[in-house]
Amino acid sequence: MDRKGIILAGGKGTRLYPLTKSISKCILPVYDKPMIYYSLATLMMSGIEDILIISTPDDLENYSNLIGDGNSFGINISYETQPSPDGIAQALIIAEKFLDSHPSALMLGDNIFYGPDLETKLVESSMKNHSTVFSYEVHDPERFGVCEIDNDKRVISLEEKPDKPKSNLAVTGLYFYDSSAPQIAKNIKPSDRGELEITDVNIEYMKSYNLYSEVLDKSYMWIDAGTQESFLVASNYAKKIEDETGMKILCPEEIAFNRGLISSEDLNKAAEDYSNSEYGRYLKRVVSKI
Ligand code: TTP
Repeated sequence: MDRKGIILAGGKGTRLYPLTKSISKCILPVYDKPMIYYSLATLMMSGIEDILIISTPDDLENYSNLIGDGNSFGINISYETQPSPDGIAQALIIAEKFLDSHPSALMLGDNIFYGPDLETKLVESSMKNHSTVFSYEVHDPERFGVCEIDNDKRVISLEEKPDKPKSNLAVTGLYFYDSSAPQIAKNIKPSDRGELEITDVNIEYMKSYNLYSEVLDKSYMWIDAGTQESFLVASNYAKKIEDETGMKILCPEEIAFNRGLISSEDLNKAAEDYSNSEYGRYLKRVVSKI
């Protein structure tokens, strides 16, 4: 059954204050486009065409003004609010009706992934029946959720910010679950900080021997753009790749066009809608290359 996507784009964003005092983090620019375009593009690259965006009651309208029903990306976008930031796993409960027993891909809106084989890796993982977390080799695993895997890539231990990490594999903000995720999220208890923790959902999957990890090695980039430093790193990275290759990274309209979700006329219209911006001119160049 087709996997559906969820982008979690709420939260408080206090680490980016004052930037995020009156605006949601994922609306902010990462180089040439709003941060949420990167997660939309990642889910689209995974072959997902139905996406739910979850954000705060104050911010949801900004997202719908920006993205609408997803028509210009050739996909379907729905929206739900999260009244208060009660944990990442709560997204799975909020999304239950939208998911309608489909498997899901939950993505944090401030995570950015890029790499030459990303699309292949995402599509292959999406086709698996088991659940998958994407992990990234880091030098400071104590700061992250850390997973340990066996030779078959099955997750055999999972710890949140461990003092003595069993591996250097940080669990990133992209999770592919089977259809039981909302039910599992409903059964976990809030943590000491009062949140429904995604790590607890992952631990439940691990306990049923149904959690695997796709390791993103150093040929990939993973940025959790939640701090001022990493936010700037993300912009600089997107610019560097564009300067080197002449290509934009994670451009939803281009991905939609390449996947046959929109026609060249649609792409041209999207380019026109972006008026005289460099982003619009880039889309025109994509159309003219056909
Ligand atoms: P966090 O990094 O935990 O939250 P944050 O970045 O909003 O908070 P702060 O800067 O104050 O530490 O969350 C990761 C992403 O998930 C982020 O994009 C916000 C989002 N999120 C929600 O939308 N709802 C939630 O309940 C939580 C916990 C996070």
